[in-house]
Amino acid sequence: MSQTGSGIDGKFFRSALGSFATGVTIVTTHDSEGGDVGLTANSFNSVSLDPPMVLWSLAKTSGSMPAFMANDHFAVHVLAADQQPLSDQFARRGTNKFAGLEMERGVGNVPLLDGCSARFQCRTAFRYEGGDHVIFVGEVQAFDHFDHPPLVFHGGKYAKMMPRAAADANSGEEVESSFRKDFLGYLLGLASIQLHNPVKACCAQRGISEPVYYVLTLLMARPDLTAGQVNDLLALTGEGLTPALAQQLVDSGWVEPGDGSREARLKLTPQGCQLAIEIFAVAKAAEGAATRLLDFEELTLLKRLLKQVIRGSLATGTESASSPQ
Ligand SMILES: Cc1cc2nc3c(=O)[nH]c(=O)nc-3n(C[C@H](O)[C@H](O)[C@H](O)COP(=O)(O)O)c2cc1C
Repeated sequence: MSQTGSGIDGKFFRSALGSFATGVTIVTTHDSEGGDVGLTANSFNSVSLDPPMVLWSLAKTSGSMPAFMANDHFAVHVLAADQQPLSDQFARRGTNKFAGLEMERGVGNVPLLDGCSARFQCRTAFRYEGGDHVIFVGEVQAFDHFDHPPLVFHGGKYAKMMPRAAADANSGEEVESSFRKDFLGYLLGLASIQLHNPVKACCAQRGISEPVYYVLTLLMARPDLTAGQVNDLLALTGEGLTPALAQQLVDSGWVEPGDGSREARLKLTPQGCQLAIEIFAVAKAAEGAATRLLDFEELTLLKRLLKQVIRGSLATGTESASSPQ
């Protein structure tokens, strides 16, 4: 969509501006009574290397305006990826934004916050009118670079940086030096074996087959499943709920006896529930160990992408039945 001239719609303009990904900063100063003042701002940018200068802009309606107009010093904190709560705190008007925060004092006695990615202490060199904002250009008097991964803002949402895969493709330890190292099936298989080995050992120790393990954990996660649905979900692993398997689950005291129909709900007995919890705990511990080099977002993304891979392969008709949950 394009718009020109005086017909520019503020909402669409804002949304188009949001396509520019930025970092997030908190700019601080103090007012004439010595009270600390600050706000979240993503209008920060570099201006000049020599002399070192930066800029940011402040809405004329901002409650912080009198302090930034009166004080000739400010500090810009480039927030780290884990500082979103702080960004929210400083974007809220009328609260004591500094409550409970540990602070140092910088040039001009300006409050300095901890834990950020970089910090620039500035003397205000220029102030310019810029429509409904005032642009502050600061000459950098001192700075710190802590090198924590930055918080990102894009399209009105917080995000985190994900380095391009191409730049990383050949870094890290190779698990195998053959062509297979980049074959998804091989990587998934190898990862699955590492994740699954402790569960297999646990099942072997208790004399439980893999299909039994699948049914127990399925029923623990989704107690409302019918025999037919369990059969369909098992089919995704290449197994099925055969009459022999159903009988074994009942005879072992793990599943309540039913009428044997596809529509009958399969219900775990308390004993079956206990066993499923024990195996589930081993599986979760294995997941934690195998993914210890990933952070929460990376793990969430990995799971989401794997679900898409499974959906994609189901959609090609190579497998039958329903999608992953
Ligand atoms: C990610 C983000 C970026 C923001 N960037 C700016 C900005 O560059 N300039 C600005 O004036 N307000 C910006 N704001 C809004 C202010 O943080 C918000 O209006 C704040 O309540 C102002 O506080 P004050 O009225 O106490 O000064 C931003 C808010 C968020 C969440």
